[in-house]
Amino acid sequence: MKPPLRIGLAGLGTVGIGTYKILTEHADLLSERCGRPLNVTAVSARDKAKDRGVDLRDVRWAESVHALARDPEVDVIAEMIGGADGDAFDLVRDALDNDKHVVTANKALIATHGIDLARRAEAKGLTLAFEAAVAGGIPIIKSLREGLGANKVSRIVGILNGTSNYILTTMEATRRSFEDVLAEAQQLGYAEADPTFDIDGTDAAHKLSILASIAFGSEVAFDKVRCEGIQKISPVDFQYAAEFGYRIKLLAIAEEGIGGILQSVHPTFVPAETPMADVDGVYNAVVVEGDAVGRTVYEGRGAGEGPTASAVVADVIDVARGLYQPVFQTPVGKLRPFQQANFDERRGKFYIRLAVMDRPGVIAQISRLLADENVSLESIIQKGTDANGAVSVVLMTHETSEKSIARALSGIEALDDVMQPSCMIRVMEF
Ligand code: NAP
Ligand code: HSE
Repeated sequence: MKPPLRIGLAGLGTVGIGTYKILTEHADLLSERCGRPLNVTAVSARDKAKDRGVDLRDVRWAESVHALARDPEVDVIAEMIGGADGDAFDLVRDALDNDKHVVTANKALIATHGIDLARRAEAKGLTLAFEAAVAGGIPIIKSLREGLGANKVSRIVGILNGTSNYILTTMEATRRSFEDVLAEAQQLGYAEADPTFDIDGTDAAHKLSILASIAFGSEVAFDKVRCEGIQKISPVDFQYAAEFGYRIKLLAIAEEGIGGILQSVHPTFVPAETPMADVDGVYNAVVVEGDAVGRTVYEGRGAGEGPTASAVVADVIDVARGLYQPVFQTPVGKLRPFQQANFDERRGKFYIRLAVMDRPGVIAQISRLLADENVSLESIIQKGTDANGAVSVVLMTHETSEKSIARALSGIEALDDVMQPSCMIRVMEF
């Protein structure tokens, strides 16, 4: 049997403790599968005295993450601290510079510094792996890098944030408040340290930019993701969505567009009868379309201790077996600069909900502004009157462009009888 793989765990929170549990509870099975034991030789977290629900008395604590990065008794670091910069970045950079393999669950780090870190790793033939960073327990990075390696990918569509999907589906089913459901997601260990990232689409954008780089062979371009979160969704939108035959999902989409790749994250009306619409709670799903394989679909838990740790340990197993992959599938020196497609030319149907004063002529004004931009309507619904004399007007357009809808909406929102805020949700037909 080969000598043990010596593992340093950085971060002992939801993911770190889950990883420690799998490595210790499945020690015999993993040793058999890898042909060598996987031993945790050092750990690091902020508070040594914290009760973490596992027995860590026999484990050596590194003095700091900086010491862990240089620890001569560590072959691979599992980084589960979080954050794009600060100690997580220092640790990963220094570990690679000190000839250690790195696995990480940190999508913010990879989306921000992935190219720099990949250069360091590939220059030395070291592993930098991050299966846990995207879609929790779904082996989507392995699928793209290995199983789908023969394909030219044309589109990836994902529900990539477990917290927001948990919030959307729980609000829809129970009519509980946004704040209440978010607190529950935090309690369950799903949310980011800053849950704004879950809600405003940033976390899904981090993940999408990583998948897009692997799939399209271009440099990670997190700053080129068009990103909208779920903050504007109100309970009535679920009701209208159902009336039109849809459910609302926060979709992350990377696809070939005019002049390059289009990366976007936004709430989306998804046809109720499609598998994507049935992905509920903390579950994630990813659809990958390749030229040879056609459409493939992946589903599983996208956050939480077990699923995320399962993915971290999968990467550790690869290191133990001596398997090596270029970090983003294409060697980093061959990745193309990211070419952004023109979002204004993207076409689709749009749902628009407006609050307007119930006065004669207002619908005619709205219709005229839409017609001026060549936007034709599939349906228009007017509902109820509130105490201030406002009604909800709900529009479903036929296919049109982003540019036309943006211009029409800005004209509509400027009308005296239209109150803020309006809500626009893109519609995606699968
Ligand atoms: P968490 O529960 O907040 O745990 C973070 C851990 O990092 C804690 O143990 C903390 O120590 C430790 N830590 C913080 N600063 C440190 C420092 N400077 N030096 C050493 N340790 C430090 O976070 P988590 O949910 O496990 O997430 C960890 C990473 O996994 C993040 O990148 C996150 O985005 C990613 N991720 C999370 C999930 C999920 O479902 N939670 C899923 C996929 C990916 P103390 O415990 O002593 O405070
Ligand atoms: N906060 C993230 C989510 C964790 O809810 O999806 C998994 O990456």
